[in-house]
Amino acid sequence: MGKLVIASDHAGFELKETVKEFLKNQGIAVEDLGPSNSDSVDYPDYGIKLAKEVAGDESKRGIVICGTGIGMSIVVNRFPGIRGTLCVDVYTAKLCREHNDSNILILGGRVVGKGLAVEIVRTWLNTPFEGGRHQKRLDKINNIDELLLKGEL
Ligand code: RB5
Repeated sequence: MGKLVIASDHAGFELKETVKEFLKNQGIAVEDLGPSNSDSVDYPDYGIKLAKEVAGDESKRGIVICGTGIGMSIVVNRFPGIRGTLCVDVYTAKLCREHNDSNILILGGRVVGKGLAVEIVRTWLNTPFEGGRHQKRLDKINNIDELLLKGEL
């Protein structure tokens, strides 16, 4: 796997620290884009920061956490090339890699417990994209911005 980045808002801060500890124990390097404490912040600021990193470098993947995961989902999926997937179970974490080539894992710090979150992260990190028929579908998603620009959608 390429580089990994992580970010949150205040509601995801505690889980971000848990995920970082897990990654450290696994020997997986991660760049923390903040915040550095649980003071109140606006989730779009950190979602944008992380999505820009991942959208600009195909070798990068990201993990982003807010209270529900919904705010971060809305933000990061506005960026072309981002396939951000909100996961509350391990099955979805596996399938979003195999079928959707998820490049940002989104978690809800107020929704999933720490133990489940760590298993979701483990699965998401270790599951490869299957390609094949799924690549054809991703190509159609990638085409959306171009078609919108041309007024064809
Ligand atoms: C912050 O209170 C909360 O709104 C945020 O973490 C997130 O859940 C938004 O969708």
